[in-house]
Amino acid sequence: MSELLYLKTSVNGEQSRSSLLSERFIERRLANRPDTRVITRDLVTNPLPHLGPKQWDALRLDADQLSAEQLAYRRLSGDLITEFDNADTVVIALPLYNAGIPSQLKAYFDLLARAGISFEFTAQGPRGLLRDKDVFLISTRGGVVEEQDEHQLPAVEQLLGLLGITQVHRHIAQGLDLSPESNVTGLANAWEGLAAMA
Ligand SMILES: Cc1cc2nc3c(=O)[nH]c(=O)nc-3n(C[C@H](O)[C@H](O)[C@H](O)COP(=O)(O)O)c2cc1C
Repeated sequence: MSELLYLKTSVNGEQSRSSLLSERFIERRLANRPDTRVITRDLVTNPLPHLGPKQWDALRLDADQLSAEQLAYRRLSGDLITEFDNADTVVIALPLYNAGIPSQLKAYFDLLARAGISFEFTAQGPRGLLRDKDVFLISTRGGVVEEQDEHQLPAVEQLLGLLGITQVHRHIAQGLDLSPESNVTGLANAWEGLAAMA
């Protein structure tokens, strides 16, 4: 049995095109590999606490200095790291919002990145401590982003790299809000690449 962790991050609910593509991909993958268990985490309908001073203390101070709320945040961080580490495949539905990643996904990575637990500092720089796995980034965009303006995928790839994840697959559906035709073409082009990977 292999495990697939699916992270949803769109604010568009049922209309979300990153979710649509991701779920089609997962459906196809399950047909090809029925021995797969899917764990879905919707970071928008079940948002995680954002990193603030209390949360930062929760991750760095000794347990006996923490409130019940801080201890819960720290436990949540440990549980999310275990869930991510156990997954053999991760699919991230990744809309482009204001040139970057949805803030809910940033809150997730702020809980995942833990020095001494999910990565460590070495003389050569940080080294990831999590099990490598295939991560599919299914990015949907209203417009077309020029290479020099692309900050979303490199940011996610850098965060994954910090944790030790190198097998990252980019799939981009772009121009979706430019016209009805470019929506259809953008989704079809992305699906072609995704179907081949399923
Ligand atoms: C709050 C917000 C910000 C957006 N910012 C951008 C942007 O910076 N660049 C862009 O090309 N499209 C932008 N869009 C359009 C979305 O990327 C596009 O609609 C995409 O399909 C969203 O994915 P989703 O359908 O899964 O939510 C934005 C949409 C929203 C709702």
